[in-house]
This record gives sequence, C-alpha cells and structure tokens, in this order.
Amino acid sequence: MAAISLRNVVKRYGFGSGATPVIHGLSAEIADGEFIVIVGPSGCGKSTLLRMVAGLEAVTEGEILIGARVVNDIGPAERDIAMVFQNYALYPHMSVFDNMAYGLKLRGGSAADIRARVEKAAALLELTHLLARKPRQLSGGQRQRVAMGRAIVRSPQVFLFDEPLSNLDARLRAQTRLEIRRLHAELGVTSLFVTHDQVEAMTLAQRMIVMNAGIMEQFGTPEQVYLEPATTFVAGFIGSPPMNLLEGRALGTRFETSGVTLALPAPAPRDGALILGVRPEHCALGLAAPPAGAAAQWTFRVEMLEMLGAERLVYGRLGESAFTVRTEGTAAPALVRRSDPPARVVTAAGGGKGRAGDTRCVPLAPAAFRIVPAARSPARAHGVCARAGRAARAAPRASAPAAPRPCPRPAAASRSLPGPARRSCPRSGRPV
Ligand SMILES: Nc1ncnc2c1ncn2[C@@H]1O[C@H](COP(=O)(O)OP(=O)(O)O)[C@@H](O)[C@H]1O
Ligand SMILES: [Mg+2]
Repeated sequence: MAAISLRNVVKRYGFGSGATPVIHGLSAEIADGEFIVIVGPSGCGKSTLLRMVAGLEAVTEGEILIGARVVNDIGPAERDIAMVFQNYALYPHMSVFDNMAYGLKLRGGSAADIRARVEKAAALLELTHLLARKPRQLSGGQRQRVAMGRAIVRSPQVFLFDEPLSNLDARLRAQTRLEIRRLHAELGVTSLFVTHDQVEAMTLAQRMIVMNAGIMEQFGTPEQVYLEPATTFVAGFIGSPPMNLLEGRALGTRFETSGVTLALPAPAPRDGALILGVRPEHCALGLAAPPAGAAAQWTFRVEMLEMLGAERLVYGRLGESAFTVRTEGTAAPALVRRSDPPARVVTAAGGGKGRAGDTRCVPLAPAAFRIVPAARSPARAHGVCARAGRAARAAPRASAPAAPRPCPRPAAASRSLPGPARRSCPRSGRPV
C-alpha cells in the first residue's frame, strides 16, 4: 500500500503548436489506503489521469509519486499497481483460474504460491466454484469479479479502476459497488476509481475528485462536495436533479431574479450580482402555513410532477426561472393539494397528472442556501486556492444547483462558490 501524490500534472497529446492539452496542472495528495473516486463527464480526462498513474501514458509536466518514488520514468510493470478496466480484458481460451494466475506465472512465482493466492482471491470474490470455467461460460458480473480477482492476486500497492461497472445492469452495479467497498475494507489498498456516474462516486468514495475539462473542480468527501460545492459546475454535476441556480441581484435579505423578488431567510453575503443555489430537497411545498421561524416564503408555480416512488419531483417556476423541488412520494400530493389560495391547485393523486397552480414554497434555511458571487473568482482562474471570504462564511449555507454545462475554456470552467469555512483546498485537497 502506498500514498499517491499528483503534483501539478499536465498532459498534452501531440507536440508543439498542434498539441492538445487534456489535463491542465492537477495536484492532489492521496493518503495510503484511501479510496478515491475521480468523477466527471465523458472526455474530461479521467482515463488519461488514471493511465498516467498506471504508466500507460507519459506525463507531459509535473510529477506523480507512488509512495516515496517519483514514477514518471518508471514502467507500468515496476509500479506495483493493478488495473481493472471496463471491458474486463480476460483471455477467452483460459479458465478462470488461469486468467487469475497468468500475471503471477509471468512473474515466476512458485506453483504452490500461485495456487494459494488464486484460491484466496477466489474465495474472497465467491468464485471458487467457477475456477474451471471459461469466460464465455460466465455472466457479466462474474467476469467482472474475475477481472478484480486478477488484480487482487498480485497484492499491489495501488488499485486503479477505469469504469469497471459500466457494462453491468443497474442491479448488478449496485451489488458490485457493495462488494468493492467490502473488498476495500478488507484489503485496505489505496484505490483510484474512475467513473462518470455521480451515484457511483457518492457511494464509493472516501474522497472524490470532481473533474471538468481537464481541471479539478473540487477534491473532498461526498458530503463536502454535495453540501459545499466549490463551483457551479460541481453544484450542477453532483446531485440529481441538480441544484437550482438562480442568477440575480441581492440587496440585504432580498434577491431579485427573473421578474420576482425573493425574500431570503438570511442576508446575502454582499449586495450585487450573485447566484442563489437551492437543492431541490431544501424547500417545503404547499404548507398551509409557513413553519414556525420561517423567514421567507416564495410563490412557486407548479407545472409538472414526476412520481419516482419514494420521492416526487415537482417542476415549476419561481418568476421566470425553472425551479425543481423534491418532496416525499407519499407526502407531496396531499401537501400540494392543501396549498394556499388561489385554488388552482395540483391534484396529483395517481402521480404525475394535475393542473398547474401556485403554491407556497418555503426555503429551509439555513441548510438550504448557498449564495455565490456571479462573477468568476480571479483567484481560481489563476489556480490559487480561494479561501472563503468573511462575508461568504457568514452567509447561510445554500445548496445551489448549477446547470451541468461543459466549459469552453478550462480557466473559465466554472464560477467559484466560496462556501462556509472550507477545511481543505478544493483544488489540491490540502488543508488551507
Ligand atoms: N491518444 C490521444 N490523442 C489525442 N487526444 C486524446 C487521446 N486520448 C484521449 N484524448 C482526448 O483527451 C480527452 C480526455 O480523454 P479521456 O481521458 O479518455 O476522457 P474520460 O476518460 O474522462 O472520458 C478527450 O478529449 C480525448 O479526445
Ligand atoms: Mg474514460
């Protein structure tokens, strides 16, 4: 097991003026034994980063350390890592046993040692009864476990996973997620896990790196990333549906946006152009009266409902802006029906259908809000850790969704969301 350091890692494909920059100076410190998920949209550079750690891709600038060693010039075989890919890459003519033993045989271990290792890994992965089968005689999930077994038998210092669950159906994915967590708890090997799936990222990660267009937007625990997104990109990418993000102007406890003035439950960190972010679950809808102590209530025009079982999504508008609220599946229709006048209320019995109407929307402060500058932080553009300012820290915490739009230029990738006192730098993961 080993720590991993990424120090200002840059990757460009090609040379000279024709070079394509893909990773733009990424730094992160990963502790020994940590399970780190690298998440971001397709094409943002996740695989490239992982392949640089594996030694399958050259590092253009910067340094990668595994343990105390700089590995930039060390070949993949000497890095003591094991990688699991999306397309398992099993040898079709070999049995499960031989697939798992192959790498060990190449390294010249004794037959008894190889058998012992393969049998131990097979037991761990519940593959013992399948050791004699060929890959074609296995289900997708079983093949996936063989690929993991092949990595485990090597007892590497680091596991690298590149979207290993993408070929599995939803149920098997959820089950395999749990198995991977159990394996990590048992083996404690430092792991980098790449995925484009935010649910996978949130459920597997001890800490996660959120990437966008070759830039690390945030490095933190799932809780930090969800509750204190460092940028509007993160706010929009993590969470489904995304955080509502309303652009507007603040004046004290009032916020003007798209034709309406919203009362804020606490004063904005400063007056002027800001983005108000509200997670869909951080609002209560259709209450007959606002809850005690509620400092604000908004008029929410309901347009559409979506019944998802345990929860219900209510789509509508605050002023002209699209806005989404998440309510409990059972509670929502009754609550919406009991909405305040006018009586054009949503009748959602049966789910999904109903007439549109206005209802009361009570933002649940202080957990509900993140009020962020509408202007891009210059500190961020220059790659410096932006500390939360005094005013921003005093601000109520808001969840704000950002539209998950790809950014044309890396430096303008997204706006900085200074949050409440941040414990670590979102770019490097180092304490600030
Ligand atoms: N060998 C290559 N030559 C040039 N560009 C590449 C090469 N490999 C990947 N890229 C580009 O690098 C970017 C990141 O790719 P990749 O790391 O595979 O993204 P992800 O894994 O996040 O989907 C993409 O725009 C891709 O087109
Ligand atoms: Mg990839």
